[in-house]
Amino acid sequence: MTGRLAGKVAAITGSASGFGEAAARLFVAEGAAVALGDIQVDRGRGITAELGHAARFVECDVSREEHVAALVDLAVDSFGQLDVMYNNAGIVGARGPIDQLPDAEWQFTIDVLLHGTFYGMKHAARVMKPRRTGSIISMASTAGVIGGLGPHAYAAAKHAVVGLTKNVGAELCRFGIRVNCIAPHSMATPMVAMAHLNDPDDIDGVLAELAERSPIAGRPGLAADVANAALWLAGDESGYTNGHCLTTDAGVTTGSKAEDAPYSEPMPMMREAGRTGL
Ligand SMILES: NC(=O)c1ccc[n+]([C@@H]2O[C@H](COP(=O)([O-])OP(=O)(O)OC[C@H]3O[C@@H](n4cnc5c(N)ncnc54)[C@H](O)[C@@H]3O)[C@@H](O)[C@H]2O)c1
Repeated sequence: MTGRLAGKVAAITGSASGFGEAAARLFVAEGAAVALGDIQVDRGRGITAELGHAARFVECDVSREEHVAALVDLAVDSFGQLDVMYNNAGIVGARGPIDQLPDAEWQFTIDVLLHGTFYGMKHAARVMKPRRTGSIISMASTAGVIGGLGPHAYAAAKHAVVGLTKNVGAELCRFGIRVNCIAPHSMATPMVAMAHLNDPDDIDGVLAELAERSPIAGRPGLAADVANAALWLAGDESGYTNGHCLTTDAGVTTGSKAEDAPYSEPMPMMREAGRTGL
């Protein structure tokens, strides 16, 4: 590793699994100190113990503002500052046809995915503004970029995360704080293994399935792909990037598909003429 986050302090929500865990491990390997928060206390504590003196853990339910505030305060009290806030925690949440969605499930999903992100931005700004520096990263989704890719409450919340990122970025940039988000498409984490195979631990199974469906032949999306995107947004290399939604989706939101696209084959008359262009 090359110390790309040397001297920086990060807080990561949902860091006991998937993208959050991968980011916590990568950020520490790149020189950062990290405050980890999650509702999975045993897993979170275990990962934090492995990471050693550069990591701290606190139980953090992102739907509770006081928990998110405490995670931010843990980073500052333990390591002196907060440079990077990564609002990553998430769930699939309410599913089903719009006319049958229970209100309580809708509310719960929005509480975790949208309100949790709002609390993270709010409390990061509280400690970053006086220092006039910082990078806030939130987890969107391809389901927050185009329609039809996720359940309704999930899609609504993730679209809102993209919008909030742009708006808060427009406010905080004058304080030297950049606000960006990442929009992955189905990648091999416990969440997707659970959603596709009903087994959060079957990462190999979901890797095989995603490899088959990937627009980039045989290449599934990995937790490391998103951790690397977060690393770039966290560090100074992305210093002029603000209000951006960075897709990690093999081009799914820009038209790339696993199947042969009709235009990848020459038109019959062009084939006969020995030409492939128009
Ligand atoms: N995996 C994908 O393909 C994918 C695609 C698009 C977006 N995302 C988003 O990425 C983020 C991480 O997902 P993942 O795939 O790593 O899932 P994951 O289930 O592996 O990890 C999510 C983590 O969030 C934690 N969490 C859940 N509810 C919480 C709460 N209320 N407070 C604090 N922590 C909570 C879980 O305990 C878990 O450790 C989520 O926001 C998800 O919506 C994932």
